[in-house]
Amino acid sequence: MVGSRGVRSNGQPDMFGRGSPDDPGAPGQPAAPGGAAPAGAAAAPAADDEVAPGRRTFGAATDDDAGADDRLVLGDSAAVAAAWPPASLDAIYVDPPFGTGTVRRGRGAAYRDRPDATDDPDAFVAWLMPWLDASRQALRATGSLFVHLDWRAVHYVKVALDRVFGRGCFAGELVWCYAVGGKSRRGFGRKHDTILWYGRGADWAFYPDQVRVPRRGGSHMRVVTGDDGRPVQEKTDRKTGRVYRYPVDAGKVPEDWWTDVETLNHSDAERTGWPSQKPERLLERVIAAVTRPGDRVADWFAGSGTTAAVAQRLGRGFVVADREPAAIATCVRRLTAQGRALAAAGAPPPALDVTVAAARPDDDRAARRG
Ligand SMILES: C[S@@+](CC[C@H](N)C(=O)[O-])C[C@H]1O[C@@H](n2cnc3c(N)ncnc32)[C@H](O)[C@@H]1O
Repeated sequence: MVGSRGVRSNGQPDMFGRGSPDDPGAPGQPAAPGGAAPAGAAAAPAADDEVAPGRRTFGAATDDDAGADDRLVLGDSAAVAAAWPPASLDAIYVDPPFGTGTVRRGRGAAYRDRPDATDDPDAFVAWLMPWLDASRQALRATGSLFVHLDWRAVHYVKVALDRVFGRGCFAGELVWCYAVGGKSRRGFGRKHDTILWYGRGADWAFYPDQVRVPRRGGSHMRVVTGDDGRPVQEKTDRKTGRVYRYPVDAGKVPEDWWTDVETLNHSDAERTGWPSQKPERLLERVIAAVTRPGDRVADWFAGSGTTAAVAQRLGRGFVVADREPAAIATCVRRLTAQGRALAAAGAPPPALDVTVAAARPDDDRAARRG
């Protein structure tokens, strides 16, 4: 480790100690365009943002909540994930670099997709394996892992996940569809990412009422007035004659393909300038589906901190890590701004602890400038 702070003498990241005082346009990974930051957006981070470890509080912190801080860790998250206490997390979402070997650039920020990347899906799986193994260990018995991928590696990672978690723990394949991204003259536009969902065990938690969406009009079902005067969608099974009724205003649990969450556009207030930032609405659905307030989620590839921001707003605890100082600096700005707003609204989130586990190797630093 180079110049590490907040590191135990045995070399393990001290993530539990108090913080010391001290191919652009590719589907799903759109390069953020240049231009001025929209009102309310966090300023674009400088490439060499320094991250000061320590504790940020948003309300009147007490000793009672001292063990329940939310965590940001700067460093290689493979070590962070491996050192995380077993069976302590309710959900983990990861959006790893897809292994294109390119430098991904956003508005004022960049990270190298993977230093050793070749376009080899087997090598990508081998690289990702430590996070998959560690995630399984860190999840509670009812917890879930979500791995966000695209066409490049999803099929290879699915097989690896079947082996690590077991096929019986495959909970679903979520297809996130969007409109932006490249077009091709040689085939259909690649306009979706895939999020693989596995339970730690076969008894994973799922809270359908937390993710209901409005029922679509114009479906094959007729709309009638129910006994209580509310509109009801109704259909009759031709074979059995059984009648199914669905109150329109109760909404429905979404299918496993999502067309109602668009990628962030140029003027979105939540844009931070971090490349391949995911929309909060996407993470809202993922987190709400499998956790309740007070549960704890993790993201080992934090980027701009989308998972953390959603977790903080929904009252879930979190730990997120990234090896780029500029990413953690972006997370700090985003979570501090939101934390203050929540505190002002009378719902201060837990304190935020920032830990520097390890500095980046120098060769990566050079790539970042490149
Ligand atoms: C696709 S981005 C994540 C974007 C994020 N989901 C968001 O909404 O902003 C992948 C992130 O993984 C980080 N990363 C890559 N290798 C890492 C490693 N070994 N340890 C920690 N972070 C890493 C990169 O710095 C980058 O920020």
